[in-house]
Amino acid sequence: MNFVNEDVVTLNRISITNFLQEIGPDEVKEEIISGLTAKKKHISSKYFYNKTGSELFEQITALEEYYPTRTELSILKRIAPGLMNAYKGFDIIELGSGDSSKISVLFYAASGDYPEQIHYLPLDISQTAILSSAEELVQTFPNINIDGYAVDFTSQFELVGRDRPALICFFGGTIGNFEWDASLELLQNISRQMKRGDILLLGTDLVKSEPLLHAAYNDARGITAAFNRNILNTVNEMIQSDFREDDFDHLAFFNEEKFRMEMHLVARRELELTSPFLSRPLVFQKGEAIHTENSHKYSAKHIREMAAASGLDLIHTHTDNRGWFALSEFQLA
Ligand code: AVJ
Repeated sequence: MNFVNEDVVTLNRISITNFLQEIGPDEVKEEIISGLTAKKKHISSKYFYNKTGSELFEQITALEEYYPTRTELSILKRIAPGLMNAYKGFDIIELGSGDSSKISVLFYAASGDYPEQIHYLPLDISQTAILSSAEELVQTFPNINIDGYAVDFTSQFELVGRDRPALICFFGGTIGNFEWDASLELLQNISRQMKRGDILLLGTDLVKSEPLLHAAYNDARGITAAFNRNILNTVNEMIQSDFREDDFDHLAFFNEEKFRMEMHLVARRELELTSPFLSRPLVFQKGEAIHTENSHKYSAKHIREMAAASGLDLIHTHTDNRGWFALSEFQLA
C-alpha cells in the first residue's frame, strides 16, 4: 500500500503524524453512487459526520433519551482510578479519539499530587480534531506527552510506533456501526497489533428493552431525525445531486434478528434525483428507503463471541447498574 506522509506537525509535547491514504473525491463519489444505485439503497454512516453532522451528534449525546454516551462516561469515571493504577506506565492509545472528552477521564484519574508521565497516542481520521484536542490536553495536564496519528485505524493501526505496553481504548460504541463480520475483522486487526501485556478497552452498547432503544433513536425534539437527514447534504456535496431533506422521513427501529438499531430515510413521494455523475436519474418509489446506519446492541454472549473470534481473552466487563452499556477489557489469548 502507498501512504502519503505529508506532514509531521510538532509542537511543545505534541507531535502528529499524518499517514492518511490519499482517497480522492472520485472514490468517495463511486462509493456513494454505488450505494444509491444498489437494489437496496444505502449510504455509509461514516458520511454523517460533516461539520453540521458532528454538531448534531454532539446535541444527540446531551438528549434525555440518548443514554449511551453518558452511561459510558459514568462507567469510565467509576473504573478510571483502578485502570490507571493497574496499568501504570502504559502507553494510552485511543482509536477514533475525536474530541478526547472521554480519555481525559483517565488522565484526571492519574493526576494526583505526584502525577506519572502519560504518553497518549490518539488515532483519528481527522488531523485537525487530533490537533485541537491535543492542544487542550497539554494545557490541562502538565504530565502528558502526545503522539497523534492521522490514520484510518481500521487498516493502518500497524503504523503506530510504540515500545511500552499499551492500554488501547475504543470508546463510543463505534464498533456497533460495523456489520458483525466486519466488526470481527476489525477486532482481529487490532489483536494482531497487540503485544503480550497490552489491554484493549472496548465500549459496546448492550441489548435492552425495545422502547428504550426506540426512544434513543427517535427523540422528541427530532435531533436524530435531523442528524439522519443531514447525510443527504454530504451526498449533495459529493455528487452534486439535488436531494431535499424534507422529501424524506426519518425511520429508526430495532431489528430483532440482527440485534441492531437501523436508521433509514424514507421517500415521502415518488422522486427523481439527478447528478452530473449519474447517467440517468435516480428514481425513488414513494416509501422506498435509503439505509443509513446500523447500531448493534450486544449481549454478554456476543462480547464473549467477539473475543473468541479475534484471538482475545475477555478479562472483565464493567457495566452500569442498569446494564445498559459495557466497557470490556481484553488481552491476547
Ligand atoms: C456514534 C455510532 C455510537 O450508533 O448510537 C446516534 C451514532 N446514530 N444516534 C450510535 C448515532 C443515531 C452513534 N454512534
